Amino acid sequence: MKYAIETKNLTKMYKKFTAVNSLNLTIEEGTIFGMLGHNGAGKTTTIKMLTCLIQPTFGQATVGGYDVKKNPDEVRKLLGMVPQQVSLYKDLTIKENAQMCADFYGVDSNSRDDRIDELMELVDIKYAQNKRIKQLSGGQKQKASLVASLVHKPDILFLDEPTIGLDPTTKRVLWDLIRDLNDDGHTIILCSHDMHEVDMLCDTVGIINTGNLVAYDSPQGLKDTLQRKRKEDHDEFMSAMETLAEEQIDSANLRKMSFIVNDKTDEIYELVSAREYVYNSEKLNNGRITLQIENFNDYAVNDVIKTVIQAGGVITSIETEEPSLEDVFITTTAEVDEDARA
Ligand SMILES: Nc1ncnc2c1ncn2[C@@H]1O[C@H](COP(=O)(O)OP(=O)(O)O)[C@@H](O)[C@H]1O
Ligand SMILES: [Mg+2]
Repeated sequence: MKYAIETKNLTKMYKKFTAVNSLNLTIEEGTIFGMLGHNGAGKTTTIKMLTCLIQPTFGQATVGGYDVKKNPDEVRKLLGMVPQQVSLYKDLTIKENAQMCADFYGVDSNSRDDRIDELMELVDIKYAQNKRIKQLSGGQKQKASLVASLVHKPDILFLDEPTIGLDPTTKRVLWDLIRDLNDDGHTIILCSHDMHEVDMLCDTVGIINTGNLVAYDSPQGLKDTLQRKRKEDHDEFMSAMETLAEEQIDSANLRKMSFIVNDKTDEIYELVSAREYVYNSEKLNNGRITLQIENFNDYAVNDVIKTVIQAGGVITSIETEEPSLEDVFITTTAEVDEDARA
């Protein structure tokens, strides 16, 4: 498997602000890669480093096997770029802009104009070839930008939010064009914050959030992971609710009652722990029986004593427990800690 792009700890800092943070990214040759992220996530900064417009602060990146720091000229020959802000000469025509780009990249002058014609036909803008950039609509400008960026047949094409602000029809035309270019063998890196666009077009997606790569998978893979995570969160939530319900019974309604009988401990333990108000019970080796009683009241205490006496037992010691301030403190701080950790 060959990579069109490979980065290692690629980082860009503007003074103390980290715009791209230690990015490790691979993009396979011949694929359409979608870079998703909010405004300000670091997409354009990443693209600018990969297209040698700015230098990385740390880390490495190779494009088509060439290092962006060591071989920027080789990198530039391999790539085409449709920037977020159209950067064509406004007073020149579409054709003149494309010719300038071709000359810059040293495209053979004999084939230059044929190539430009072919591209203008491909993106359906030939009818406006002699219009100046400043006279064009947004969609026409994007198409002009595409023609200029493709004139030297780049292996790798970067598109930075190419459909932003375009009407739905023109968007579709550009999407078809991106697919056609990919079918022709171009690797495409598409920056966008349009989920639908990326889902539809891309083989692989990287999600960038505040300069960090937070997800990397196929669109379906990302959706499956989210689905799984949602299910896990749901299950976790439900089991937390159950635990909470149990804890609430525990702290709100349960009181302890504890006593020692001098004889028939096992038999008496069986009997009292089966009473309907007993939530939990415990028997120690010294004959002490401890019961946790729901809705603690005199009836329950009397009923326990009666049960013991009827079974022929003799109570030698008995205690009932009110919740202490310490219990309150421990319960409350545990809740606060839970909240702080949530
Ligand atoms: N030249 C610059 N100087 C200082 N900060 C910048 C510069 N360019 C971009 N940034 C900041 O870097 C962050 C990433 O910006 P950018 O890569 O343009 O995001 P995106 O393209 O994902 O919307 C933003 O917070 C932006 O304000
Ligand atoms: Mg941007």
